[in-house]
Amino acid sequence: MSREQQIAWNRETLDGWELFREHRFRITELLTQLAPQPAGRLAVLGAGNCNDLDLSALCQAYAEIELLDWDHHAVVEGVRRQGLQSCEQLRIDAARDLSQSPDPAAIAAADCVASVGLLSQLMLSVTQVHDPGAPQQTIAAAAELRRQHFQHLLARMRPGAVGVVSFEIVSSDSLPELIGCANEAVPNLTAAAIGTGNFYTGLHPAAMFHTASQLAKDEHVSDPQMHRPWKWCLGPRTYAVAALSFRRPNSR
Ligand SMILES: C[S@@+](CC[C@H](N)C(=O)[O-])C[C@H]1O[C@@H](n2cnc3c(N)ncnc32)[C@H](O)[C@@H]1O
Repeated sequence: MSREQQIAWNRETLDGWELFREHRFRITELLTQLAPQPAGRLAVLGAGNCNDLDLSALCQAYAEIELLDWDHHAVVEGVRRQGLQSCEQLRIDAARDLSQSPDPAAIAAADCVASVGLLSQLMLSVTQVHDPGAPQQTIAAAAELRRQHFQHLLARMRPGAVGVVSFEIVSSDSLPELIGCANEAVPNLTAAAIGTGNFYTGLHPAAMFHTASQLAKDEHVSDPQMHRPWKWCLGPRTYAVAALSFRRPNSR
């Protein structure tokens, strides 16, 4: 997916602060719960308009927060809308293609690295070239992209740090019951949809967990955990979103 298209989508959701309330609460709650003691460094990949991040709350939990994206304007304006343009805890690094892993020697390692809605965007590079005649090829390409994305997070994590990947499982386009349902109903609704093959290619929670488990087998990660899904209302479309967290072992 082109940078221009991503930027156009970011402009469409610029004013999504109110709509994102529930989603922002869940992402912020998860990142706050996973914050180290004493307060350390958080890196957020795919920060965009920052509508899914309560930056004031996160600044209570982390000493320093790095916001990464390739849409500089979205991040700068997102921080300004939250009134934090002068906050010295925030650092913006938003002219970067995050489809590539960084050189770990060239960056400051973080205590928590969170990818927020970025993997689904990267996955479009796989699904847009999907050949219905060769489904195994698509499945293999999606698995490789997941592995690379987790490796990207690991490259930014110090030993012992935690990684979080939030990802969209399915939307109201194919599961209209998501619109207007209670948040408590989302796990069962989503599980039933997955059972009938109704989920985004490459983002089946079990496939996500499998990729993390394979990395755990090779001792690249430990303690993979899937967090129960919730709702993300984005105007006419509502998503079921989940998050996977894992640790980088202290020994690596
Ligand atoms: C679904 S949005 C995340 C929502 C965002 N945190 C918000 O609250 O508005 C995905 C973000 O990933 C960014 N993105 C997509 N592909 C990227 C890439 N290859 N490199 C850097 N950023 C990318 C987009 O610019 C967008 O801001």
